[in-house]
Amino acid sequence: MTQKFFTVAPMMDWTDRHCRAFHRVLSRRARLYTEMVTTGAVIHGPRERLLGFDPSEHPVAVQLGGSDPAELARAARICADFGYDEINLNVGCPSDRVQNGRFGACLMLEPALVGECVAAMKAAVVLPVTVKCRIGVDDQDPEEALDRLTDAVVAAGCDELTVHARKAWLQGLSPKENRDIPPLDYDRVYRLKQARPGLTVAINGGIKTMAEVHGHLRHVDGVMLGRAAYQEPEILLAVDRELYGETPPVADAFEAVAAYEPYMAARLAEGERLSAMTRHMLGLFTGRPGARAYRRHLATEAVKPGAGLETLREAVALVARATERLHGDRSAPALAEG
Ligand SMILES: Cc1cc2nc3c(=O)[nH]c(=O)nc-3n(C[C@H](O)[C@H](O)[C@H](O)COP(=O)(O)O)c2cc1C
Repeated sequence: MTQKFFTVAPMMDWTDRHCRAFHRVLSRRARLYTEMVTTGAVIHGPRERLLGFDPSEHPVAVQLGGSDPAELARAARICADFGYDEINLNVGCPSDRVQNGRFGACLMLEPALVGECVAAMKAAVVLPVTVKCRIGVDDQDPEEALDRLTDAVVAAGCDELTVHARKAWLQGLSPKENRDIPPLDYDRVYRLKQARPGLTVAINGGIKTMAEVHGHLRHVDGVMLGRAAYQEPEILLAVDRELYGETPPVADAFEAVAAYEPYMAARLAEGERLSAMTRHMLGLFTGRPGARAYRRHLATEAVKPGAGLETLREAVALVARATERLHGDRSAPALAEG
C-alpha cells in the first residue's frame, strides 16, 4: 500500500515563503505548496522574489497558473532549476482575472488543452507534475466533467490529482464564496479513486480536523488542508506522528516559535519586516488562555518599523503568563478562549 500523505494547500497571499518556513517547523512531512504563480510572472517577472525559497521548506511544490503548453513547459523548467520538488497546475481558481487569462477553474471545460499542458510540462522536467482541480464548473455534470479531465491528464502522464470536492461557479460568486457556497461532494472524489486505483488522488475542501483527515484517508491517498492549516497551524503538529509514525519536530506551539526564530532573525537581518512573518502566526495558540492578547500584541506591535524578535517574545509571554495564572503550568489542557 502506498504511503498516505498530507499537504497544505496553495493559497494566494497566505502560503508565501515565510508561511511555508513556519509550517515546516511544525511538520517535517507535510508537503507544502506555493501560492499560484502565473507563467507570465515566472517567465518575465522578478524570479528570485517570486520563486525563491528557503532550503528548509522541502518538500515544496510550486503551483503554476497558465494554459499555454509551451509557456507552462518553460515555466516548469525555470521552477525545476529553482529546486522545487513538484510542479502543480491550477485547474481550480475561479477569479475573474484568471478566467480572462483562460486558466484556473475554467480549464475544467477544456480537458484536452489541460492534457496538452501536462504533457508539455512532463516533457520539460523530470519532476512529478500534478494537477489541482474541482469536480466541475457551473452546470457541468461532475461525473462526466471530472472523468474527462482525469482521462486527459492521466494520458498525459499526470503523477497525482488533488480534487477540491466542490464545483466552481464561474459567474456571480467571488473566489471566497466559491470556497464555501458550492456544496461539497466528497463521495465524487472517493468514486474517482475507486474507479482508478492506480491513480494517486488527494481530496481537498472543508476538512478541519485530524479525525476528518483519517476518515478521508480510508478512501483516498492524500488529504490537502487549506484554511484549517493556516488558521490553526497547531494541527500540523499531529501530522508527522499520526500519518507518518514519526516524532514531530517540536513538542508544542511554544517550541515552534523558538524553532522559527533563527529563520526570522535571518530575514530581519536582510531587512524584512517582522509582521511579514508574524502575520502567518496569528492562529497559533488558538483556544489557549492569552491567545487573544497574543494576537492583539502582534497585530499592533509587529507592524511597527524596527520591530524585532522581542516583540514576538512579548506576545508569546502573554500566552505563557495567562496559562500559568490559570493552571500554574503552561502544559495544562487549554481552555477555550478563541
Ligand atoms: C486565501 C486563499 C487563497 C487561495 N489561493 C489559491 C491558489 O493560489 N491556488 C489554488 O489552487 N487554490 C487556492 N485557494 C484554494 C485552496 O487551495 C483550497 O482549495 C480551498 O481553500 C479549499 O480547501 P480548505 O477548505 O481546506 O481551505 C485559496 C484559498 C484561500 C483561502
